[in-house]
Amino acid sequence: MARKISCLGDNIIPPAHVGVIMDGNGRWAKKRGLPRKFGHREGAKNFRSITKHAKAVGIDYITFYAFSTENWKRPKEEVDAIMDLFEKYLDEVEDFIEENIRIRFIGDRSQLKPSLQAKMRHTEETSKDFDAMTLVLAINYGGRDEICHSVKTLAEQVKRGELEPQDITEDMIERNLYTEEIPPLDLVIRPSGEQRLSNFMIWQAAYAEFYYTNILWPDFRVNDFDKAILDFCERNRRFGGI
Ligand code: IPE
Ligand code: IPE
Ligand code: MG
Repeated sequence: MARKISCLGDNIIPPAHVGVIMDGNGRWAKKRGLPRKFGHREGAKNFRSITKHAKAVGIDYITFYAFSTENWKRPKEEVDAIMDLFEKYLDEVEDFIEENIRIRFIGDRSQLKPSLQAKMRHTEETSKDFDAMTLVLAINYGGRDEICHSVKTLAEQVKRGELEPQDITEDMIERNLYTEEIPPLDLVIRPSGEQRLSNFMIWQAAYAEFYYTNILWPDFRVNDFDKAILDFCERNRRFGGI
């Protein structure tokens, strides 16, 4: 595939895969004296504009961390509000479809409402041949859960006598992750001032660059995204070499 020209300039080689930990929705709402769910609503709006902009920047894959396997610990009312937002957004994905953006989901779907699961399947199916960019949504996703899931699949193969334990490779573990055929992360952006992964793509982020900012996710704009990309372009990645 010919190299995409980035809206940031023809000499810019953007990261192939960017991960975004959408954090700070609750604090954004609290600062305004609003219930937390208003922060999630504002955050969801923002996710749309950043996605479209990422395509113009020339990103191939963008993954948004939307709901973690640990987020079930939150009050039911908040979890329900977040799940309702997912359904609403999946009803309105036409504009991504128009933009030729493929949509994929990672995470354990089995615990999600059947109506949401059906919408996820439909969205993936409708967009499967689109190739301008891939948008990955991590819903009920946990990095540890994902590795555990991969290891169980390989253990089943060992049990059936199809695989010897000593023949297990990193590549096999990788191929059984939810991110099959999605490249490793080049850059992880986390707004809101927290400097941690919170179980986000712990395998795929092994050699990722990190970019943190104090801006809360609903206030994070396309120019903040550009700043992160330009910062990434200045980094010297060595992957263990010299
Ligand atoms: C991120 O915002 C969204 C989800 C985890 C679903 P938060 O809800 O974690 O916002 P803060 O961190 O409490 O401000
Ligand atoms: C990480 O944010 C999960 C998502 C953004 C979906 P959290 O707000 O749940 O992370 P912690 O609890 O601060 O580590
Ligand atoms: Mg948070």
